Amino acid sequence: MSEIRKAAVIGAGVMGAGIAAHIANAGVEVLLLDIVPEGATNRSAIAEKAVERLLKAEPAAFMSKRSAKLVKAGNIEDDLPALAECDWIVEAVVERLDVKQALYRKIDAVRKPGTAVSSNTSTIPLAALTEGLSDGFRRDFLITHFFNPPRYMRLLEIVSGPETDPATVARVSAFADVKLGKTVVTCKDTPGFIANRLGTYWMQLAVGEAFALGLTVEEADSVMGRPFGIPKTGVFGLLDLVGLDLMPHVQGSLERALPKDDPFQKTVRDIPLIRTMIETGLIGRKGKGGFYRLNREGGGKVKEAIDLASGSYRREEKARLPEVEAAAKNVGALLGATTPAGRYAVSVMARTLAYAAWLVPAAADDVVAIDDAMRLGYNWKWGPFELIDRIGAPALIAALDGMGEPVPEFLTLARDKTFYRVENGKRQYLGRDGIYRDIVRPEGVLLLSDIKLTAQPVLKNSSAAVWDLGDGVLCFEFTSKSNSLDEGIITLLGKASKLVKDKHKALVIYNEGSNFSVGANLGLALFACNIAAFGEVEKLVAAGQQAYQALKYATFPVVSAPAGMALGGGCEILLHSDAVQAHAESYIGLVECGVGVLPGWGGCKEMLTRWQTDPALPKGPMPAPSKVFEMVSTATVSKSAAEAKEYKFLRESDGITMNRDRLLADAKAKALALAENYVPPKPVDLTLPGPSGRVALEMAAESFHKRGIATKHDLVVASALAEVLTGGPADHIQPVTEAQVLELERAGFMKLIRTNATLARIESVLETGRPLRN
Ligand code: NAI
Repeated sequence: MSEIRKAAVIGAGVMGAGIAAHIANAGVEVLLLDIVPEGATNRSAIAEKAVERLLKAEPAAFMSKRSAKLVKAGNIEDDLPALAECDWIVEAVVERLDVKQALYRKIDAVRKPGTAVSSNTSTIPLAALTEGLSDGFRRDFLITHFFNPPRYMRLLEIVSGPETDPATVARVSAFADVKLGKTVVTCKDTPGFIANRLGTYWMQLAVGEAFALGLTVEEADSVMGRPFGIPKTGVFGLLDLVGLDLMPHVQGSLERALPKDDPFQKTVRDIPLIRTMIETGLIGRKGKGGFYRLNREGGGKVKEAIDLASGSYRREEKARLPEVEAAAKNVGALLGATTPAGRYAVSVMARTLAYAAWLVPAAADDVVAIDDAMRLGYNWKWGPFELIDRIGAPALIAALDGMGEPVPEFLTLARDKTFYRVENGKRQYLGRDGIYRDIVRPEGVLLLSDIKLTAQPVLKNSSAAVWDLGDGVLCFEFTSKSNSLDEGIITLLGKASKLVKDKHKALVIYNEGSNFSVGANLGLALFACNIAAFGEVEKLVAAGQQAYQALKYATFPVVSAPAGMALGGGCEILLHSDAVQAHAESYIGLVECGVGVLPGWGGCKEMLTRWQTDPALPKGPMPAPSKVFEMVSTATVSKSAAEAKEYKFLRESDGITMNRDRLLADAKAKALALAENYVPPKPVDLTLPGPSGRVALEMAAESFHKRGIATKHDLVVASALAEVLTGGPADHIQPVTEAQVLELERAGFMKLIRTNATLARIESVLETGRPLRN
């Protein structure tokens, strides 16, 4: 679909390098160019170093080793002619108009007509960038504003000029959407576009008011975080994350570029403490600390926060304000509270939400663009207009009146309405003309949340639900806490299978939680063990095995569609599906050993089968168990769907969807394609090495123990795992059946769950979220 087969990124700094890596993640070859350093022998040194940095970046910039090979480093002098072969050229050089314009002239001289050229500028208007350039260049030029880090931030702001060819915008937008997985938000050609303009307004106000009202940084962050669906870093934590040193630049450029009467200007304040912090290198996490720091003096690790009045550090004290805790249920009450936290909330958020309303139509055509920009650019749970709907426009208007602030006309229009509503099963938004319009999803986007607006589940219990996607496809959704797997899910899987078999064509397993599934519900397992109900635990292990086997051998195709984490039992469900359509950001692994057990729902069996048939492995019974042992004993988790293929958690034939919103439609299409002439798989017997193989694996674990990498209990777990993977205590002359491996899994699991060290690990994960290394 996309006509972009080769791209170039010019400027190999933070953003350019990240954008190049992400274009490579989409499977497209990309040229990364930077200047020739003065007097350098290696003329492409800057871009080459950037690629080296990308390979070490944390979180990873590349999704796989394969994508890393697609980036070719070069320089803007020797490799300029190669731009003629590119379909899209992204400029990400320093934020200087003269430098950018000089570069555009060079690009224009070599590019082929029709090649899209875009700038990653964060502040310079398109009109200024293209001034004096050729007509052809202006036709093909647009702004594509990525967020840092480009792989992970879903927002892409696009700005086009009056002369930009709509076909060019459509081509780049489609590529960004489908291949790069971005949500494209169309912005007007105004300073800071949407997210940075509104986000900076909010941050500056939130910082300034915290000083003015005498709040501590912890108090301010507790108000500016959870109650409003904003990440818990709040504002000071966020500044530490992005770097305090960036703020004066962003603030300065917006201050200069925006009109004098723009409400933004009132947020500009000189705060001496922040100036001093920047001067002394207290610029946040990348510096010596920021508003928060970890004090390691004397070998300790003390979390500290800065005192805004004195500028000295003191021990961090989590704020526990009753009005903030109550706001989880009713955010409006927090805005009405007369306490300092309440006054802070209203002073910052009422003004920020009003500014959002000013930005329609100044910076964006509609509320959807602004909400998308803040949700995806700043990770807000709700966009500003969704927040207004939660608070109620009349309450917000009253708050603004109370502060003597002007009320935007658009907000007045919504006085007796909401910005969003559902009408005839469609989500609609309010326009400035007072008319509601449907939110139109692009073709190929299918969301369960949209289906739920009108439909009822066809099956449901307290842990899962089943939805009809139409065309003969049912969708199985986990609804339990963190999508953890429990008896309810196992039971409903059985019922759903029967329903598909009787009346439908295929089953898709999918949900819209932030993680597909974190694995089995450990809380329930621990509870059962604590009352010594081991029989119940064993029954659940067996029931899970049966349910997963039934999925695998069902008379209809099962397609799983994970996004986020798919761990333990969540991974095992993928392993038993006929096909997987995974979101590119899927983190898949069998992590059971971390909590002192082993994969007991067929994970060992399926991984052995996959590795046994790998033509790249040496022949014989040992290589497959060794590979699986290496991965499972270390609880390896893939850092992307592409990497999951390297580990064989996914098959080569499994699909990867870059755009989260397109995952369900892709999975459904895959299920329907498989449903044509569907034949269930045949069981595969395994050739396993028996006890001699187990001894070899145990010796490997022992050597890790000697080097201090594996703990004492790791050896116990590794030994149980080795026994399963090598086929148990008997020497096998005959191949081992699936049923035999499943039995070994069950026995190994039960042996481990009866140990105190395993229970201590489970308890630790439940209490602290961290595995215990006992
Ligand atoms: P940076 O300073 O990390 O990298 C800029 C790179 O451009 C340097 O490697 C420099 O050698 C190179 N360069 C300078 N002149 C050049 C020329 N004539 N030809 C080729 N290369 C040249 O800058 P950063 O942060 O990556 O920013 C790049 C652009 O992206 C800027 O326009 C910035 O406003 C924008 N931006 C930055 C974001 C951020 O978070 N850093 C976020 C979004 C946009």
